[in-house]
This record gives sequence, structure tokens and C-alpha cells, in this order.
Amino acid sequence: MNAQGVNKFRRRVLVATTSVVAAIGAGFAAVPFVASMNPSAKARAAGAPVEADISKLEPGALLRVKWRGQPIWVVHRTPEMLAALPTLEQRLVDPESTVQQQPEYCQNATRSINPTYFVAIGICTHLGCSPTYRPEVAPDDLGSEWKGGWFCPCHGSKFDLAGRVFKGVPAPSNLVIPKHTYRNETTILIGQDEGAA
Ligand code: FES
Repeated sequence: MNAQGVNKFRRRVLVATTSVVAAIGAGFAAVPFVASMNPSAKARAAGAPVEADISKLEPGALLRVKWRGQPIWVVHRTPEMLAALPTLEQRLVDPESTVQQQPEYCQNATRSINPTYFVAIGICTHLGCSPTYRPEVAPDDLGSEWKGGWFCPCHGSKFDLAGRVFKGVPAPSNLVIPKHTYRNETTILIGQDEGAA
């Protein structure tokens, strides 16, 4: 073998050795990665249902929980809040919730399983801001007709206390209601259908 031949040979040996080391490295690197993914606990946790404890939720108050990275609201509606809902129908885009923005069991006058508690994903159906809870009646900035609901400061969309969108605002549809069920009288399970608990 002449000098050129020796160099070529050395290069081949070097390349081969480096490949083996790289393969071993990749093997070691893959183990912790796979271990962290296995048995997909994280994946399951990311989509897992979450509990909302409503035992201390005062009438008129709003509770926030997080599910799948999204804000979820639970509101304890008072009898007065519930009584206002049917009076708003003329001013709403979809008062009967005909668009599928809710599970079937919430396609009713109060968009809920139990009328006292309203559950919704707290994301505006226009461009995804999180609207502000405005439960007060007839505040100066929202006018004398306002009976409580949500106001989205981004572009002015308005929703009533059943998450139904008012006419004349940019949001096209009612707030989305996630699947949920009651684990017991004071615990709502968000992310799981009624009857599946
Ligand atoms: S994002 Fe709510 S009005 Fe535009």
C-alpha cells in the first residue's frame, strides 16, 4: 500500500468508527426519550379529564380551571340570571344552539346539564381572546339592556350567561361547551361525557 492508499484506509476506518459511536450515542439518547413517553402517561394526562370542585362556588361567581391548555369556566347562575335568559332570545344569533357548539345534552334553553351551573370553554369564537366575565346588570359601559354575560375586549363581542352570542358583533357563534359530567353534587368532571364516568 502506498502513502495515498494508507491515508484512504485510515479515513475509512475513522468513518466506520465514528458511525459506530454515533449509533451507540443515538441508542443511549433514545432510551430516556422513549422512557419519558412511555406508557404515554404524558399524552394521556394532556387530554385527561379535570375535576372542578364547585362546593365553594358562590351564587353569581365564576370558577376557572384548565383543561387541555384551555380556560374552562364554571358559573354558579342565580335564579335571576336564569330568568333573564329567555328574555334575550330576539337579540341572539343562535338562541336555540342549533350550531353544534355543545354536546347534545347541553342543547337546551340553558345550555347545561344542571341549569344552576354553566360550563364553557373561555375562548371567544371570533379570534380566540378570552372574554371578560361581566355579571353585573346594566353597567354604564355595556348599556341598560345588559343582563350579565361576557364581553370580549379584543373586538367587542358579547355573550349572555349561557354563552350565546349577541347579534351585531364579530364572533360568529356561541361559546363552545366542553363535554362534561357530574361526578357527584359538588364535582364536575370536564372532558368526559355524561354517563361515561
Ligand atoms: S377575539 Fe373576541 S371579539 Fe375578536
